[in-house]
Amino acid sequence: MTRELPELPTVSAAPNEKATIRFQSDGRELELPIISPTHGPKTVDISRLYRETGYFAHDPGFLSTSSCQSKLTFIDGDRGILLHRGYSIEDLAQDSNYLEVCYLLLNGRLPSRQELAEFENVITRHTMVHEQFKTFFSGYRRDAHPMALMVGTVGALSAFYHDDTDVTDPRARMIATHRIVAKMPTICAMAYKYSVGQPFVYPRNDLDYAANFLHMCFSVPAEPYDVHPIVARAMDRFLILHADHEQNASTATVRIAGSSQANPYACIAAGVACLWGPAHGGANEAALRMLMEIGTKDRIGEYLARAKDKNDPFRLMGFGHRVYKNYDPRARVLRESFHEVLEYLGKQREPLFELAMELERLATEDDYFRERKLFPNVDFYSGITLHALGFPLAMFPALFALGRTIGWISQWKEMIEDENQRIARPRQLYVGAPIHPYVPITER
Ligand code: ACO
Repeated sequence: MTRELPELPTVSAAPNEKATIRFQSDGRELELPIISPTHGPKTVDISRLYRETGYFAHDPGFLSTSSCQSKLTFIDGDRGILLHRGYSIEDLAQDSNYLEVCYLLLNGRLPSRQELAEFENVITRHTMVHEQFKTFFSGYRRDAHPMALMVGTVGALSAFYHDDTDVTDPRARMIATHRIVAKMPTICAMAYKYSVGQPFVYPRNDLDYAANFLHMCFSVPAEPYDVHPIVARAMDRFLILHADHEQNASTATVRIAGSSQANPYACIAAGVACLWGPAHGGANEAALRMLMEIGTKDRIGEYLARAKDKNDPFRLMGFGHRVYKNYDPRARVLRESFHEVLEYLGKQREPLFELAMELERLATEDDYFRERKLFPNVDFYSGITLHALGFPLAMFPALFALGRTIGWISQWKEMIEDENQRIARPRQLYVGAPIHPYVPITER
């Protein structure tokens, strides 16, 4: 189905468009080239700044600084647009599937029917992990957080697959990429099974990517688990919606780790570690916890009032977004899946979900939230969808990591294949003590 695409101007700087920096101290000037993106803000190339002037640029948190060139993902937060390789997230979530999106992100174009079949075959046939891999898990405490298991075991893959850790060899890179995409659901499901004290479940090659993952999470030796297509589709969409989000903290971490030519398994483990932080991968969990804390519909008014009170630090979790100031396009898609899942599972009348829908209605009708364009974001719907699917809160960031793995590895591949790539080495603004002599301990 073809949807109407939003207006999105392409950008072109005049061939000789330049920015000039003028230093007031001595009147020196430096002309800097302007680089044009396909879409988005034009960019001033400051890479010569230090060499030619002796000055650094200071930009903590990269608020104005592009750290790389990328062809993968584009976000226009004001217009609520998210594109992967030029395709809108709505089109991909409606008409594609996660493995096709993986192929697209990795290879830069949609596959032919045959290419997709081959890709699916390769991924399916790499889903098992080495039998000895299980022993890693038993070294962890039973109550370990699934993300602790993921950080350790994903990095441990490099101890099992020595043949593909030469990052300068394109074939080794491709094999490592396929292994990571294929084995991540198995590892994620093992982390879940370990945390609930159930035996690990082997992958099934007759199921698609999302259905196989649900099977590894929810089937037990005592009885089979039939994955319903609606549930598998919701899982698949969740994965698509989390596949990539340009240069966020964990992706930047993967690129920086990889810039030293570290092996890809170690780099993805670094991405998992970064995502674990509550400011990155924890928003859907926070949204669900908040719903649990509100508890009943009659308390929503109290919480809305608190969210609006400037003297109260409380914020409505799952509302607003740093980048999307119009609407989070992923939220719209996941909202639809959430309702499909609820209907299939017959959970529409469960108090927590009724509460969530009432909060969504009241907040979106409230002038405070409307004026500030604070809409429910993807985390609001992913929290309640994952809860409806039966995942515990602690698994939420692990599921995010599973979906984001393709973004991390595609960005890693793009970085390694970039001719201009060099080891990332940020500068700093030193504000510590000035040089002074060492004082022997007897004189202090
Ligand atoms: N509840 C109540 N008020 C809010 C909320 C919220 N969730 N979000 C923003 N506001 C208010 C702010 O107080 C501010 O009000 P003011 O103009 O009267 O001072 C106004 O809306 C603008 O907010 P900012 O803080 O400028 O928005 P910012 O872009 O800095 O924050 C953020 C975005 C951090 C996501 C924020 O909306 C928030 O904390 N949301 C809840 C947490 C959440 O769901 N996070 C998931 C998003 S994932 C991500 O962004 C990486």
